[in-house]
Amino acid sequence: MGEEIKRPQFGNRLLENVDEVFKHNAWDNVQWDSEQEKAAQEKIKLNSHITFTEDTLKDLDINADKHWDEFYDIHQNRFFKDRHWLFTEFPELAPDYNSAPCRVYPNGETNETKIPNNTSPASKRFIFEIGCGVGNTIFPILQYSQDPNLFVYGCDFSSKAVKIMKENELYDTKRCEVFVLDATNQDWDVPFEENSVDIIVLIFVLSAIDPTKMPGVIQNIFKYLKPGGLVVFRDYGQYDLAQLRFKKGRCISENFYARGDKTMVYFFTQEEISSLFKKAGFLEEQNLIDRRLQVNRGKKLTMYRIWIQAKYRKPLQ
Ligand SMILES: C[S@@+](CC[C@H](N)C(=O)[O-])C[C@H]1O[C@@H](n2cnc3c(N)ncnc32)[C@H](O)[C@@H]1O
Repeated sequence: MGEEIKRPQFGNRLLENVDEVFKHNAWDNVQWDSEQEKAAQEKIKLNSHITFTEDTLKDLDINADKHWDEFYDIHQNRFFKDRHWLFTEFPELAPDYNSAPCRVYPNGETNETKIPNNTSPASKRFIFEIGCGVGNTIFPILQYSQDPNLFVYGCDFSSKAVKIMKENELYDTKRCEVFVLDATNQDWDVPFEENSVDIIVLIFVLSAIDPTKMPGVIQNIFKYLKPGGLVVFRDYGQYDLAQLRFKKGRCISENFYARGDKTMVYFFTQEEISSLFKKAGFLEEQNLIDRRLQVNRGKKLTMYRIWIQAKYRKPLQ
């Protein structure tokens, strides 16, 4: 059996004295007062007029994959940072790695569990990441988990991203396979069976998808997960700094915007996520709002970030 290992904690740096805001780079679980919330609502109202022409809206939708190709043409694999926080938030992605900081939730509870450090030879475990980009989630999973039974699949609708990922020296065809797939397709052409995947990962990808197409994506996720399988989700929350920064003329529909490079982004509430997954038949295991105050100590800037994090399980039957 596994032994108990004391891990450092994450998520419990609370700003108790506002005069100390520039003492650290980030503060957790920062509460908003009603004035701050009202100011955010007004800012969103200002940038929510839809001024795009029908042609532009059509281009954003039909050529969404091309716009991400152009994004990856420019940024290659330099834009997104490796998601090393993954194992603090979602220890189930690498259960054999037990030194990630342990997460302290806003209610004081933690996700500290006794993780066996000698996993018994089990059957194959499959993880599938949708919108894997150039591998900033998959490569850390492969690096932190040495489980020989683990196999990781990934898809992205940008063929450019998939190509860049496959050229990475960390891309090991014995442990992973990535392929091009538009997750909004009604029928998925994937190299695995229905009811076969243990964990499906959605990290900042659902927000890139038109909200009217999200229910179809969630239905397919349900179909391919094993009974008892898990979805791990992290994405932008409403009022996040990125939403407040949009200028007039970028709004596609409520809480959905096009960036200057024509990639799209939606900002979620906890309730929307809950309803999307529950309607598809999932059981909710986690749905939390992660409010973080990031601080640029040099420039004396404060940035309020809001993410939604959730876990949904497909019932055993
Ligand atoms: C913000 S990036 C996140 C990438 C990666 N998950 C990460 O954490 O670094 C969003 C990714 O989703 C992909 N994407 C957007 N819409 C998609 C769709 N309909 N099907 C598959 N991939 C999609 C984009 O090409 C892009 O690589």
